[in-house]
Amino acid sequence: MFITFEGLDFCGKSTQVKLLRNYLVRQGKDVKLIREPGGTKISEKVREILLDKNNLEMSPETELLLFTASRIQLVKEVIIPNLKKDVFVISDRFHHSSIAYQGFGRGLDLDFVESLQSFAIQGALPDITFLLDISVEEVNKRKEEFEHQNLDRIELSKNRFYENVREGYLYLEKKELYIKRIDGSLPIDTIHRQIISEIKKFKTNADYLNE
Ligand code: TYD
Repeated sequence: MFITFEGLDFCGKSTQVKLLRNYLVRQGKDVKLIREPGGTKISEKVREILLDKNNLEMSPETELLLFTASRIQLVKEVIIPNLKKDVFVISDRFHHSSIAYQGFGRGLDLDFVESLQSFAIQGALPDITFLLDISVEEVNKRKEEFEHQNLDRIELSKNRFYENVREGYLYLEKKELYIKRIDGSLPIDTIHRQIISEIKKFKTNADYLNE
């Protein structure tokens, strides 16, 4: 099973990814955890270029192609081989991030961004995507708590950008049935329980289909 997590910066994905991984391991499953951009030798190098605060002159087009290049390497080297071995693959961000951030956030041509993403994922569509939805006000609140820590190039973006990214995620949620939106302002535990319940539902459906 291939599960991805999406949402604005500071939406709490990383916490939920870890809780889900621990849950599945307790159930005796093999789990491979990955994060984007990154996850392979080449993709980690691309990550450094993408998030470097000094690379302020990076064009949106370059940004899109670098995120996508990093992704293709991850799909081929890690995601597809693990799914073939029946491992649960959980990814902290995947192709929807490029549609929301580069398509809606940076305003690049949506048709092009979407077809580039279907080329990039090589057929490896997620079974379930959890969209942890928080408002831009909530992003700002959480950002302030991190004020004295190091923010990366993209986390330094402004309100308008995040409004557009969020609009992108809501557009995707309407389009794809496998995207489950969860209110990211709920307590950590409540969100975790909702995630487990969606995964159990998915298994039931799959068993039913196999009968
Ligand atoms: P990261 O430190 O992984 O942030 P987070 O923990 O919030 O996921 O940095 C990823 C940043 O890159 C984040 O601001 C979102 C952005 N991003 C894109 O703009 N496009 C993409 O395709 C991906 C994968 C990430």
